[in-house]
Amino acid sequence: VICLLKAYRGHVVYTASPKEFTVIENGYILVENDIVKAVSKDLPEGIREDEVIDHGDRLIVPGFVDLHFHAPQYPNIGLGLDKELLPWLEDYTFPTEAKFSDVEFADRVYRMVTNELLKQGTTRVVLFATIHLESTKRLARILDESGIGAYVGKVNMDRNSSDNLIETTEDSLAATESFIKSFDDVSDRVKPIITPRFVPSCTAELMQGLGELAKTYGVPIQSHISENLGEVDWVAQLHPEFKDYASVYDNFGLLTDNTVMAHCVHNTDDEIKLMAKKGTYSAHCPNANYNLSSGIMPVRKFMNAGVNVGLGSDVGAGHKVSISQVMSQAVQGSKMVWQMCDKELKPLTTSEAFYLGTKGGGSYFGQVGSFEPGYKFDALVIDDSGLQIELERSIEERIQRFIYCGDDRNIINRYVDGREIEVPNTK
Ligand code: GUN
Ligand code: FE
Repeated sequence: VICLLKAYRGHVVYTASPKEFTVIENGYILVENDIVKAVSKDLPEGIREDEVIDHGDRLIVPGFVDLHFHAPQYPNIGLGLDKELLPWLEDYTFPTEAKFSDVEFADRVYRMVTNELLKQGTTRVVLFATIHLESTKRLARILDESGIGAYVGKVNMDRNSSDNLIETTEDSLAATESFIKSFDDVSDRVKPIITPRFVPSCTAELMQGLGELAKTYGVPIQSHISENLGEVDWVAQLHPEFKDYASVYDNFGLLTDNTVMAHCVHNTDDEIKLMAKKGTYSAHCPNANYNLSSGIMPVRKFMNAGVNVGLGSDVGAGHKVSISQVMSQAVQGSKMVWQMCDKELKPLTTSEAFYLGTKGGGSYFGQVGSFEPGYKFDALVIDDSGLQIELERSIEERIQRFIYCGDDRNIINRYVDGREIEVPNTK
């Protein structure tokens, strides 16, 4: 085995704990193959000064993690957002997703999506595709070729959809199994994820079958939960036999420590407890929740209860791909919840939001989202010189400014799994 040692120099910033930024001004990250070995203030042993990859006065931060993104909704980004969830799905989302039966159309959109994710600094992403097997396989191939890390889901829907965006239960299960099997020889950076769209789209038989597939193949699961009050009522009508929304998923074996549930705006305390007990992840998607008037997830309540939380852009209900944008929106929402609803639920700090968008969501992928020893070297190099306004600022203030005011123009280099990724149109 060839052991490749590299050292990167710059202002190293990460959140080992949500409580604070760890900052090493003019520090080093020592990387062996794809794994962080150490961070240090001084030149690491075994490396000569002239071998160091020097990023100078730039910030080096962990790559961003997006736990919830709909790749086929990218053509709709920013559209139809005066609607609430259910009419938005009917009028905008389903008709566009139906077009992904055309693999060549899908190919063009999915290449744009992959480029845009990397351009915006997302290095790991959990994606919904559509119900279509061939175009979803194409998405997996495009992602794999790009070098990004991803879970990709072939969406399952066998009820309450339009005629051109629905499958039979048998076809949906068979295509999902075939999708999982197609990964036998694909890289370990891009993997399948079982994807019941949400309870209203899936019959009990389909959910049962998907729970069994998840168990048989040891594959993770993603879905939506309690985003909108109309949706929550609908689920209660469809399944009066279950106590609540989370119990429906749990009954079919879909609430595991390898499950990520998007939204969690309207969950009850019992549901939050159940999710914590199961080790289920919550993808907090503030941008999407504000756009569709869904509400504000009380993210502090989930964190206090011990639920694993990460951030999601939820494009196309969210109109920004950038996870740094989602970080500031998460902080803003938490301040409104605190001020308007519950004084016990303290607002998120900037370091907590940064943690959610890096190490919090990153743990869904293993040791991802931090620069502690043993973590995958996923990193962004940030040139924030254009964001500086006269006064001398600390490194921590510079990262705050980047989170609130920065964008993809400030991202100079992207590394995933120790490898630098070049994105077209960014240099
Ligand atoms: N619930 C079911 N499907 C969707 C979707 O595509 N987007 C959002 N935001 N919520 C959903
Ligand atoms: Fe979604």
